[in-house]
Amino acid sequence: MLIRHADPALDAAECAAIYAPYVSGTVISLEEQPPDEHELQHRMLRVIRTHPWLVAVVDGTVTGYAYASAHRERAGYRWAVDVTAYVPQEHHRRGIGRALYGELLGLLRLQGFHVACAGVTLPNEASVGFHEACGFIPVGTYKRVAWKMGAWWDVGWWQLELAEPTEGKPPEPGPTGSPSLKC
Ligand SMILES: CC(C)(COP(=O)(O)OP(=O)(O)OC[C@H]1O[C@@H](n2cnc3c(N)ncnc32)[C@H](O)[C@@H]1OP(=O)(O)O)[C@@H](O)C(=O)NCCC(=O)NCCS
Repeated sequence: MLIRHADPALDAAECAAIYAPYVSGTVISLEEQPPDEHELQHRMLRVIRTHPWLVAVVDGTVTGYAYASAHRERAGYRWAVDVTAYVPQEHHRRGIGRALYGELLGLLRLQGFHVACAGVTLPNEASVGFHEACGFIPVGTYKRVAWKMGAWWDVGWWQLELAEPTEGKPPEPGPTGSPSLKC
């Protein structure tokens, strides 16, 4: 398995294909229409200006991806990120998610982010188990905060402290780098 930075020109179609069934058939994503390749490419280009977007490549095929984005837009939140990962159902439980997060969280630490947050539409045993296996702790649940597929859904939040809290203002988060990644 190779973990590398996503290339918007090369990887958008495969990432869109991985994401689509989770949009169309589940409430794991709270989007209603699966974004197409073009939209995914647009999102990737926006994300990678400031945060990492990684793909897992198995036998030459993109077999999962993970990325980070700003948790909230207000200035005080700029050391906090949201993270997520998507792996095709038929490749679950083979360590792909863990490998993606291992690299993603390492890069976020290098950039100087302090907190990673994950919002999980409940129930989602796999995502909860996964985030807790990666060291995230539960912090609370927004009750009936989203409507999809004819019902209201709770969204639970998990967080991981990436760095010790500082006494004074922390250094500004740095740019995304391109260290060579392998797994
Ligand atoms: C969550 C997800 C990314 C995990 O990816 P994965 O490649 O299957 O996870 P890994 O094989 O690396 O699992 C790492 C650990 O997470 C935990 N875990 C993974 N799947 C789990 C499950 N179904 N139930 C309980 N724990 C689970 C386990 O501790 C596992 O370690 P182990 O297999 O040694 O016991 C994957 O299930 C997925 O894509 N789900 C659909 C999309 C989704 O929910 N994304 C998160 C949105 S918030």
